[in-house]
Amino acid sequence: METPAPAPLAETLAAIAAADPQALEGIRVAALGKAGWVTAALKTLGAMTPEARQAQGPRIQALRSEIAGAIEARKAVLDAAAREAQLAREGLDLTLPVTAAPRGSVHPVSQVMDELAEIFADLGFAVATGPEIEDDWHNFTALNMAETHPARAMHDTFYFPDRDADGRQMLLRTHTSPVQIRAMVQQGAPLRIIAPGRVYRSDSDATHTPMFHQVEGLVVDEGIHLGHLKWTLETFLKAFFERDDIVLRLRPSYFPFTEPSVEVDVGFAMDKGRRVLGGDGDAPGHGWMELLGSGMVNRRVLQAAGVDADRYQGFAFGVGVDRLAMLKYGMDDLRAFFDGDNRWLAHYGFSPFDQPTLSGGVGARA
Ligand code: DAH
Repeated sequence: METPAPAPLAETLAAIAAADPQALEGIRVAALGKAGWVTAALKTLGAMTPEARQAQGPRIQALRSEIAGAIEARKAVLDAAAREAQLAREGLDLTLPVTAAPRGSVHPVSQVMDELAEIFADLGFAVATGPEIEDDWHNFTALNMAETHPARAMHDTFYFPDRDADGRQMLLRTHTSPVQIRAMVQQGAPLRIIAPGRVYRSDSDATHTPMFHQVEGLVVDEGIHLGHLKWTLETFLKAFFERDDIVLRLRPSYFPFTEPSVEVDVGFAMDKGRRVLGGDGDAPGHGWMELLGSGMVNRRVLQAAGVDADRYQGFAFGVGVDRLAMLKYGMDDLRAFFDGDNRWLAHYGFSPFDQPTLSGGVGARA
């Protein structure tokens, strides 16, 4: 005959399932402790007849182990929950947002140089560099400016007083054009580079500083002509100023290192007394602004750099980076660029997180 479980079993199991650690210990003592009711039931076995003990023994033992098992299981659940709660409490949330603003800013010249590198990288140009302390041959002679060339006088060069150990006349480079020579000597043709950097001239007034920045461009390949130059400059200026209506005017000019030489003007419109690039410079209320020098590389320059001038042609251009920055970002005093005034830098500087990309727009703070 099936013996029904004593009434406390169902209640005890329900109480165990809902117990907190303290209640659980209370239940254990009440059932399995020295004076517990299961213990008391076990003690009754000794006084039973063998038949009764055989019937009751396994039932009471089963009761005991069922309750003990339930208590163990509940304890495991409570322990795991306590551990979870502790881990959550003591965890370190590394995803917290950075609330402090970065200190310092990117100088507009650095920003513009990054923008130029990004635009020209997309056109297949690599960035080349050369020394700021340059020798006379790279800065002048190889660029078709012999020692007696009158164009040298226009450069207001900072010369070093003494010649170097090899007898070379050293100077602070007056333009980035010597990097053309270095790149051709080192890499040969074909070639596509830009060379941004500092240049120096003994000249100082409202629009000139003794140190300023230029970027040089050079393409050498077979079959290069003026059309390539014009397309490249147009593509570059449209991307840089982020306007499709940039109009160029090419004027004949003279540079010793290019033949023919071309001065490039960009059309602008007057807007509340400010010149805004864009539109046809000949339209009413518009004008032309001289922006950069360029031309087809003079074959004497190719030859000086060891490039076969019968096989290869090239175009080159040079433009002031500070001027580009002023035109794009609206500063009007060049000298303030190099004063290191924190208020100016805070106002005109760029966030270090504002990386120029072609897909995201090369201009910061549009
Ligand atoms: N080097 C010239 C200067 O500093 C600028 C220049 C003009 C560079 C024409 C060129 C060029 O590459 O083709 O005034």
